[in-house]
Order: sequence, then C-alpha cells, then structure tokens
Amino acid sequence: MTSTATSTAINVGLMGLGVVGTGVAATLLRENSPISDVAGRPVNLKKVLVRDLSRSRDIDLPSGFLTADPEDILSDPDIHIVVEVMGGTDPAKGYLKRALSAGKHVVTANKEVMAKSGPELLALARENGVNLLFEASVGGGIPIVGCLMNELAANEIRSIRSIINGTTNYILTRMANQGTNFQVALSEAQGLGYAEADPTNDIEGIDAGYKLTILASLAYRRRFKPEDVYLEGISKLEPQDFRYARELGYAIKSLAISSLDNGAVQLRVHPVMVPNEHMLAKVDGVYNAVEVDGSLCGQVLFHGMGAGREPTTSAVVGDVIEAARKMGGHPAGPHQGAAQNETSISVRPMGNLQTRYYIRLDVADRPGVLAQIAKALGDGQISIAEVLQKDTQPETESAELVITTHPAKEASVQMALEVIAGLPEVRRVSNTLRIEE
Ligand SMILES: NC(=O)c1ccc[n+]([C@@H]2O[C@H](COP(=O)([O-])OP(=O)(O)OC[C@H]3O[C@@H](n4cnc5c(N)ncnc54)[C@H](OP(=O)(O)O)[C@@H]3O)[C@@H](O)[C@H]2O)c1
Repeated sequence: MTSTATSTAINVGLMGLGVVGTGVAATLLRENSPISDVAGRPVNLKKVLVRDLSRSRDIDLPSGFLTADPEDILSDPDIHIVVEVMGGTDPAKGYLKRALSAGKHVVTANKEVMAKSGPELLALARENGVNLLFEASVGGGIPIVGCLMNELAANEIRSIRSIINGTTNYILTRMANQGTNFQVALSEAQGLGYAEADPTNDIEGIDAGYKLTILASLAYRRRFKPEDVYLEGISKLEPQDFRYARELGYAIKSLAISSLDNGAVQLRVHPVMVPNEHMLAKVDGVYNAVEVDGSLCGQVLFHGMGAGREPTTSAVVGDVIEAARKMGGHPAGPHQGAAQNETSISVRPMGNLQTRYYIRLDVADRPGVLAQIAKALGDGQISIAEVLQKDTQPETESAELVITTHPAKEASVQMALEVIAGLPEVRRVSNTLRIEE
C-alpha cells in the first residue's frame, strides 16, 4: 500500500495503548464519530501493538485487535497509517523507519525521536512519498506544530518563548503559591501523577529541550539538535527566590526560548523571572503556553493543556485525519516540515546572551561587603539596578543580599560570579536567575 490509495477505507495500526494510545483507540472506535466524514473516507482502527498482552486495559478492544508482534502492523499491506505512541527511541525509531519505508503514513507523539532524528525521518518520508506528522510531540493539545509550518510560515520568527513542560510548571506554581520547597512540590506532583518516579527529564529541562529543538527546526527551517539547547533545571530554586521575585514584581517560570538575532538563534531552557503582568507569568499549574513573535503577525500566544489523554488524543487524531485527507492527493504536504532546503541560521553561544540578572548571595554582615561585590560586577561592565538586603541573622553574622542588574553579557556575569564566590565575605552564591522583560 502507498499513499496513492483511493476512496477505500483507511486502516490504522496503533503502536502503544498507554495514556495516549487508549484515548486514540477510544476516539477511533467511537460510534458516530465525525472522523471519517471529516477525513473524506472511512478511517478504521485495525491493530494495536502493546508490550504485555496480559495487562488489564482501560478499554475493551474488539477481539483480535491486540498484538505483541510489531509485524502484525509493519508487514500488513492493508494498514495505511501507523500511529506511534509508545515513547522512547528504541524500538520506536526503528518501527517508524520500517513503516515509512513500507509506504505507510506515520503519526507520532514522540518528542524524543523527533528531536533526535526528525530530519532523518522526514527525509525518509519524502523519499517514500508519505507524510510524517507529529503535532502531539509539542504542547499536547496546543496546535503549535501545524501553525509554525502552515499558518505562520510567512513570518520570520523573531522569538519563541514557551512553557512546554507541565510538570515543571506545576512544581513552580506550587512553590510560588504555597511557599513549599522544591522536594515537597516534586513529591506532590509525583503523587498526582504529574511527575514520573524518575523526574530527571522534566526537572532538568531535557523534555522541554527536545520540544524546543522541534519548534526551532520548524521555525527556522534548519536541523537543530538537542545538544544545541542550553539547559538548566529548576531544582536549585528555593522558597526565598519566590519571595524576592514577588517583592520585585516577577513570577518565576521555566521558559524554553529561541531568539533570532543577526542570523543566529539562541536556544535555551532555564528558570526565568517574568514580569507579573506578562501573559506567561499567568500560566499556572500543568498548563502550557507558547508565545511566538513573528515579523508579520506580531506576538501570538497559544495556551492550553500540554499533556494528558484527551488533549494529546486531539492532536494525534487530528494528524490521522490530515494524513487520511492527503492520501492519494498531496503526499509531500506542508507537514513534511523542516530540513528540505535548510537556512544558514547558526546557533549563538549562551555566553553571548545579553539580559538582566537576579543574584542572591549569602554574605557576612560586615561593612564594605557590598562595595567589594559592586567592584567585581563593575570590573565585568555589569551595572547594578537594585539591591535588597534582608534576613540578617545576628547569631551567624550573615545577611542575604539580592542584586538585580541592568542588561549584561552572560559570559561576563558568570566570570564576575566566580570572583564573587571567591570573596572571603561571601558564604554562598545562593542562586542566579535571568530576568526576561
Ligand atoms: N502522556 C501524555 O500526556 C503525553 C503527551 C504528549 C506526548 N506524549 C508522548 O506520547 C508517547 C506515549 O506516551 P504515554 O504517556 O501514552 O506512554 P505510556 O502510558 O507509557 O504507554 C506506552 C505504551 O506503549 C507500549 N509499548 C512501550 N514499549 C513497547 C514496545 N517495545 N513494544 C510494544 N509496545 C510498547 C506500552 O505497552 P504496555 O501497555 O504493554 O506496557 C504502552 O501501551 C510518548 O512518546 C510521550 O512522550 C505523551
């Protein structure tokens, strides 16, 4: 079977029946669903691949649907669209390659595979005249992937600033609203099923880095790699940072940012202070938001559920419908996406970033300390915007000093912080945050 199938029914092979797969199966099996109408031909679920056939499931599938043998999907010429919602890179990537090479259209929610191997897979899709669609890989139910490829394609994308990891945003919201520390907020997120037992990918920014790699590759039509993204997690944040942020008029959010300047793009994921009145400061809990600044459209904000069964099903089944519509029509459609004719946009090193900084220091409560710190900053051409001195503790003769700077170069700030950390009166550089205006 290839994409030239005509008005006959379209059969779907689903790989994975977990959180997302169960929603996709239920939606495709629903009676009186509008899917076939919208797709222009009947769309049927035919096979569902799982790892463990003995596990109990949240859904009753017609008999004979469930299999643990990938060949039942990959080698079946009557399966036209493969939906991969297994996750991970192995064996998922191999299955995607097999499906594309066999002339099957592919829909995936797999950000890791798309971030690491998207260009290779998209090239394979093009070679085989089929579509590879991945709307659900970024932002769950938020239609950002298709918009960057289609509706916003006429723009030069000046920047993308996004909250694209719901787990992190939930933890930060709890820390801000309840004054809890990081570990408590993380345990709570795990208890609610928002964070996995091993939360590393979420809290260290790795997951958001994958998603930013995908968004930037689409926005700038160039193949970026996850290694191009500077990553900093949220585990160093302490309740004091949220108190000071509030006092200074900011919220703390972990943003995934790409910004284009003079033909070079900077890609970074890290916690940021955002002015309270900015839209991104108001995105709370497990919600996601993506702000795109385009040369023609100006600032556009997408906001919604970035994960979960229903929102992700919305994106996956939307792609199934799109693939079904294109079959026999326009196989190399706009969703073929990045990397056909690459732009020459380069990656700007993190050290070149120019922004404002918040610096929190634990210092000896003695005269002259601030002067020494100001000198270290001044030597690096970093000028101070504001200084707060709080929480003086007479018993330990220490004080907490919070400094915000005017815009300064990242490399200079990091060098000045090394000097400051070495001053005898400085007990600890407790935290540093970038301020996004
Ligand atoms: N969950 C979300 O809200 C969300 C949102 C956006 C994107 N995504 C992406 O969607 C994908 C699926 O996520 P999920 O949360 O639905 O995962 P999940 O709940 O862990 O489900 C994974 C499913 O894949 C099956 N599977 C895994 N490895 C397999 C293998 N080697 N062979 C056959 N079957 C295998 C599992 O089978 P068993 O059931 O037999 O174990 C399970 O049914 C991931 O790429 C994820 O990043 C998820």
